[in-house]
Amino acid sequence: GPELFGARGNSRGWDITDSGDLEGIEAARAPWRSEVFHAAPMIAGPVVGAAPLTAVNPARPEDVVGRVVHAAAEDVETALAAARPWDAPAEERAKVLRKAAELYEAEFGPAFAILAREAGKSQLDAVGELREACDFLRYYADGAAGLTAPARGVFACISPWNFPLAIFTGQISAALAAGNGVLAKPAEQTPLIAALAVRLLHQAGVPETALQLLPGDGPTVGAALTSDPRVAGVAFTGSTETAQAIRWAMADNLDPAAPLIAETGGLNAMIVDSTALPEQAVRDILASAFQSAGQRCSALRCLYVQQDVAETVQTMLFGAMEELALGDPWDLATDVGPVIDAEARQGIAEYVARARTEGRVLKELRAPNEGHFIAPLVLKVTGIADLEREVFGPVLHLATFKAHEIDKVIADINATGYGLTFGLHSRIDDRVQQVVEQIKVGNTYVNRNQIGAVVGSQPFGGEGLSGTGPKAGGPEYLARFTKGETPAGGR
Ligand code: NAD
Ligand code: ALA
Repeated sequence: GPELFGARGNSRGWDITDSGDLEGIEAARAPWRSEVFHAAPMIAGPVVGAAPLTAVNPARPEDVVGRVVHAAAEDVETALAAARPWDAPAEERAKVLRKAAELYEAEFGPAFAILAREAGKSQLDAVGELREACDFLRYYADGAAGLTAPARGVFACISPWNFPLAIFTGQISAALAAGNGVLAKPAEQTPLIAALAVRLLHQAGVPETALQLLPGDGPTVGAALTSDPRVAGVAFTGSTETAQAIRWAMADNLDPAAPLIAETGGLNAMIVDSTALPEQAVRDILASAFQSAGQRCSALRCLYVQQDVAETVQTMLFGAMEELALGDPWDLATDVGPVIDAEARQGIAEYVARARTEGRVLKELRAPNEGHFIAPLVLKVTGIADLEREVFGPVLHLATFKAHEIDKVIADINATGYGLTFGLHSRIDDRVQQVVEQIKVGNTYVNRNQIGAVVGSQPFGGEGLSGTGPKAGGPEYLARFTKGETPAGGR
């Protein structure tokens, strides 16, 4: 119905194919081209702080993007002691969150600059990121008035670097919309955009005691929060391993009723059958596997192409890959930017080196010499069971299947234990229906790409090792931040 598809008024965003919008973006970003940004604990009390660190641009490591002060143990304690639920009426909270969305949109210049220089986001990704952040603010603002149960107290919100504005804002705005206080711990790779977001949320009217920012490492600052009994719940997005560590920490220290809302990794597949339109499939494979340099939890990792069309699809795919522009995301023509840092590059490069010695590299682009780049590439596999882990970069695995093997392919995909996204390209209605029924994932996409879920239209979240639910940007998410909902199956 109309409720489901865009009726909510998602952020208009910017059209990067429109010359007027592009000029506006260029002009608004320009003053921030070599700005040195700052991030430090934003807490309701004096800051002690750890020794300052330098944040650099992953595309051009000589570009100093910011100075960052992590929270000291004393700062975590100050924040925990000062933290309070947000006791304003629901309409007031909603008004403030909507105001924050306006401020985010108004500050697109510095936001796009930081997203490019700190997080390596292409302009297309930066636009998506800012829009999604605003969508979350407005969507949860809309939901605040309908909540029937009280807030839980103070939430720890722990977020990843790959959506350093959208997911950071999504978690916080949900907790706040429900009337909780928030202690936000951004990923150590992306504190600068988090600091901008918190500044704007405060400016919009969120009280200092209801939203505090604690930049720092996971095992120190993150773990201090998730093991403190003053925390009434945890919203976490990141790797499956970290979610498991947090679950243990909470079990040992927090009230057994404290919820863990975790959105985690995936091993996502796409099936292209012999009835698919090859041009469309290739366009959607490219976006799913290589946009954001493959650094999306939703990204396509294992592509299954039916043998009858495998040669055609492969030839077209490798040709289309040649058209991808790799480089500095500040350049508006860049399609694929760097991976997040030297450590990420190293880990992916080692994985690729092993595949190379096994003779499994089918296609590889050339990476720029400077910066933390991995060039998009395709590796041959027999099936998804060959993937040992989620490789978080522009690495696509390619397998073929025969028509009679489709049930086995689906069983193998389900057997990974993950269940985040799945893509299907087919023009046989019965097959689509059958596959969609059998596949066990949170988000299935048919005859389109499998990234970029839209808040309010496509609630996003996985099953099994990919997350606890409820889905972000969907109608059940907010209630989980209140005392109203009894957790199904424990946490
Ligand atoms: P990560 O798990 O390394 O870190 C995520 C956050 O957890 C960071 O803020 C980190 O500091 C913190 N952390 C680390 N150890 C901690 C601990 N012991 N206690 C408390 N906090 C701790 O993940 P990442 O590398 O930042 O992000 C990439 C991962 O996130 C991928 O696996 C990706 O699939 C997943 N992800 C999932 C979704 C989703 O919606 N399902 C969205 C984006 C990213
Ligand atoms: N919500 C993000 C996507 O769908 C992770 O790609």
